[in-house]
Amino acid sequence: MTAQPTWPILKSLLFALDPEQAHSLTLALLRVWSAFLARRLDPSDPARDPQLKREYLGLHFPNPIGLAAGLDKDGVAIPAWQALGFGFIEVGTVTALPQPGNPQPRLFRFPKEEALVNRMGFNNAGAAALARRLQRLRARGLPEVPLGVNLGKSKIVPLAQAATDYRQGFEAIAELADYVVVNISSPNTPGLRDLQGGDEIRRILDAIQTPNQRLSRPRPLLVKLAPDLSDTQAIACAQAALGSGAAGLILTNTTHRIDLLQDAPSGLTGGLSGRPLFRRSTELLRQLRAALGPEPLLIGVGGILEPAEAIAKFAAGADLIQLYTGLIYRGPGLVRRLLQALKTQDIAP
Ligand SMILES: Cc1cc2nc3c(=O)[nH]c(=O)nc-3n(C[C@H](O)[C@H](O)[C@H](O)COP(=O)(O)O)c2cc1C
Repeated sequence: MTAQPTWPILKSLLFALDPEQAHSLTLALLRVWSAFLARRLDPSDPARDPQLKREYLGLHFPNPIGLAAGLDKDGVAIPAWQALGFGFIEVGTVTALPQPGNPQPRLFRFPKEEALVNRMGFNNAGAAALARRLQRLRARGLPEVPLGVNLGKSKIVPLAQAATDYRQGFEAIAELADYVVVNISSPNTPGLRDLQGGDEIRRILDAIQTPNQRLSRPRPLLVKLAPDLSDTQAIACAQAALGSGAAGLILTNTTHRIDLLQDAPSGLTGGLSGRPLFRRSTELLRQLRAALGPEPLLIGVGGILEPAEAIAKFAAGADLIQLYTGLIYRGPGLVRRLLQALKTQDIAP
């Protein structure tokens, strides 16, 4: 399937709306579509070409392009993401407690630079609500691609109790997830990024490992980092995470460097994503692969809008990649365009 011929029309309609309204409308439509999608996917679908498949963390990825966290926080449209060709899907960030997020407006487009700034603040219905939805979905045998759940800290919980909060979130969703991400890198929850210190990440992962090791199949844990750490800080944090049993890292979240936008309105706060993030997120990925060696799983995310950028992420050391802002500017056909390019490049797993 290709959404491309209709994309320019759809984009101009969506871009006429306020960014958050456009997001809610799109998600509502994908949610309706999801209800009608059959369980089995067509094996002749090019997104399932055997050349594209990967095996990591004991999971089978039909292709290496995933949906990044934040677009479908509550996991309402998982079958639709799978049908659009994604080889894995990450839902969340969810928090142990439901929360409304920051006051609106909290999402801003910068079309000339193909960028977004957001300060959503983990608006989500909570881990228990996500667990109920995932239970229903799993009963339908869905999704057929790996499903990650990204966990954050509930805003009202003090930083000193972060480990307990992450643990509660983990206990609610772990059995329904194929992998779990500890998100300590959103710029929009006060103090969250302070958890990227070695001691803090160890404390959180240790708290999660206790219930994790009791599962019949302990889930692989990944840690998502900010591009605003220095290379040295990021390496120290990554080593602490891997030392506490994490299987890999997601690089990177949005940057607080709003000044990377050419026309940044003064006083704008939040996290910047899209094209201006590509350089730093890719550089940090390269540094971490060099420092950590071939073993840990590294997922590259940040500023992928073209095949060349996807290829550059793999060249910098990514095993898998994820998309968010590229979908907003280039439409859902981006997934299949990138897959086609990867096939001809023959990116070795
Ligand atoms: C509106 C918006 C909301 C996001 N929400 C989350 C989130 O809840 N959790 C998370 O880990 N990352 C979140 N992200 C970050 C993305 O997952 C991704 O790491 C980042 O946007 C860089 O990729 P991109 O340039 O392809 O968008 C969000 C990004 C955007 C634009």
